[in-house]
Amino acid sequence: MQTFFHQLSHILDQKYILTDDQDMAPYSTDWRKRFSGKALAVVLPGCSNEVAAIVKLCAEHHIAIVPQGGHTGFCGGATPDNSGKQIVLNLKRMNQILAVDIANQTITVQAGCILQNIQEAAAERGFLFPLSLGAEGSCMIGGNLATNAGGTNVLRYGNARDLCLGLEVVTAKGEIWNGLKGLRKDNTGYDLRDLFVGSEGTLGIITSAVMKLYPLPISQWTTLVATESIAHTIALLNLFQKRASSLLTGFEMMTHESLALNEKHFPQFKNPLNGEPPFTILVELSDHESEAHVRQLLETILEEAFTAGIIADAVIANSLAQANTFWHMREHITLAQAEEGANLKHDITIPLSSLDEFICETDGLMRNKFPGVRIINFGHLGDGNLHYNIAPPEGVDQKTFNTNNEKAIHELIYGQVERFHGSISAEHGVGQLKLADLRGHKGDVAHDLMKALKRALDPQNILNPNKVVSI
Ligand code: FAD
Ligand code: MLT
Ligand code: ZN
Repeated sequence: MQTFFHQLSHILDQKYILTDDQDMAPYSTDWRKRFSGKALAVVLPGCSNEVAAIVKLCAEHHIAIVPQGGHTGFCGGATPDNSGKQIVLNLKRMNQILAVDIANQTITVQAGCILQNIQEAAAERGFLFPLSLGAEGSCMIGGNLATNAGGTNVLRYGNARDLCLGLEVVTAKGEIWNGLKGLRKDNTGYDLRDLFVGSEGTLGIITSAVMKLYPLPISQWTTLVATESIAHTIALLNLFQKRASSLLTGFEMMTHESLALNEKHFPQFKNPLNGEPPFTILVELSDHESEAHVRQLLETILEEAFTAGIIADAVIANSLAQANTFWHMREHITLAQAEEGANLKHDITIPLSSLDEFICETDGLMRNKFPGVRIINFGHLGDGNLHYNIAPPEGVDQKTFNTNNEKAIHELIYGQVERFHGSISAEHGVGQLKLADLRGHKGDVAHDLMKALKRALDPQNILNPNKVVSI
């Protein structure tokens, strides 16, 4: 090990090699405090050549590498194991915006750029970079791409994969693949970019990316709407899709139980809708024509929804500040859950046509089998993506409840997901959290193909082993 550290010190300045437990602590436990590990070292490279040299060195010494961005992921993908033999390679020093191409409408960024900084850099030049999620102040674009992150704009602009035109990646051999062309069309065989996007650091280390930009909308209107059922909520979504088409940029659902938990921890976020509706829907329209145009469209659609009996109440934000408050109310549910304690997360997608039946049936089964549990169900309903999170009954010991029931609760929910032909990971990835569930969910053929890819690209199994697939 002495030789390894000696050679490492030829690649990186000593201050970028952390080995002290206290220095490594922030890199060893994830945002939720659900996963913790012990690394051999944390390394902080400043450029792709340094990343490549580190990977080569690790390959020579058979040392596993855990790539890491903002460490906000929910599946433990960026957390080292407990062996004390893995190194964490954090990309935060690689945080430069490399280029903005106005004609091509693209931005080229290093992997360690914080998502919010990219949004701001785009806005300064009159562009929208649409990827948006609650962790945007600390997650990094490399992590967003590695998890194929979703968030609140997927409905209109797609997930991280859809926004990516090119990548630079360090392979498991320590070679640098430069795929930073930024082309919207390129049918030259296998799509390497799409292989690395969503691979959670198991196939290569993303060091830079070319991302799509869009014109900034002139006006955005945000409204909160009350519905009585999921069937009505989907009717509302379909109405907005029909009347507003691509102007519909957000459609988020929050159950009464989710908002009650939010209000318990953040009383400033009181639901402005009347009568504690079972479902509160946040709808956002974005327009490139005029403020008056989009406002009138929104009012017309809401009127039609009232007349059709699919909504019970609506509040249109009358200022940017109020619109921001509506969004913060939605985004704080995750923080409220963290304040409340450990919860069991289920980031699932169900086809919209089955969503009503799925929720009615699964809520019933859940309450029957685990009396008193709180179903913190909310999410990107426009994408069929629910965060069907389960918090222990009020007053019981959370740790004991979760230890005793986690497996059975996962089984119940994932069983329902399979029954309704959904996915057990909509946007958060697999990491270590869902490693054991993947084969059953994907099926033997798909799982074996994934393992074959992993073996082909990382035969020594040094890139994030035992995350996503074990070989
Ligand atoms: P990390 O957590 O550091 O890493 C995630 C995975 O990517 C790990 O497997 C890691 O090894 C790998 N990785 C990281 N960087 C690289 C790289 N450069 N090359 C190769 N592999 C790499 N997610 C959503 O999809 N939608 C949401 O709406 C959403 N909301 C959130 C709200 C909050 C409050 C929080 C805390 C998280 C939320 N997340 C959400 C989850 C998380 O923010 C995303 O998964 C995010 O994309 C992770 O980025 P990161 O930089 O923190 O990655
Ligand atoms: C969100 O959309 O806020 C997060 O992805 C959901 C979560 O906390 O489970
Ligand atoms: Zn989400």
